Amino acid sequence: MQKITHIVLTGGAAVLLGLGSLLAAPAVLAAGKAPDSKVCKDKDNPPKDAVTQGGCIVLDRRKGNCMGCHQIAGISSGNIATKMENMAQRWPDKAKLRAQIHDASKTNPDTVMPPFGRHQLLTSDEIDKVVEFILTL
Ligand code: HEC
Repeated sequence: MQKITHIVLTGGAAVLLGLGSLLAAPAVLAAGKAPDSKVCKDKDNPPKDAVTQGGCIVLDRRKGNCMGCHQIAGISSGNIATKMENMAQRWPDKAKLRAQIHDASKTNPDTVMPPFGRHQLLTSDEIDKVVEFILTL
């Protein structure tokens, strides 16, 4: 019995330790969800990883403004277009996903989605980062 108590206690402590390090981790990686707007606006310590940078571009109304039409779980957003989810499964070919963002009218001439690359609304580098981010959704 004593042994079991010991295992339960150390197990519990390990879980607590794990939780603690999760909570203490800096909010840099936005994988799987929209980055915190505070992280995007932090001019002194701007996000350095491509995923978070891409997430910030997606959210920025003067940049991607993807949320004007699309949805990401957990944030209020548009319902004109698809929900961005299961992206890696739905877009196994990264180049095709990039092409959709560069110029959506290539696949659908009547689309309302702005041709972000063709109209230079986003730079090539920004589109790459957007792709890195939405593939985590
Ligand atoms: C003005 C509305 C609008 C905005 C802004 C917009 N989209 Fe779209 N998007 C659409 C519509 C509508 C479709 C549906 C496909 C079509 O029209 O051909 C679509 C389709 C897509 C698709 C393919 C469908 C899917 O769910 O996989 C992707 C990927 C996509 N958009 C990414 C983006 C990204 C990334 C941004 C921001 C950089 C963005 N869109 C901004 C309207 C928009």
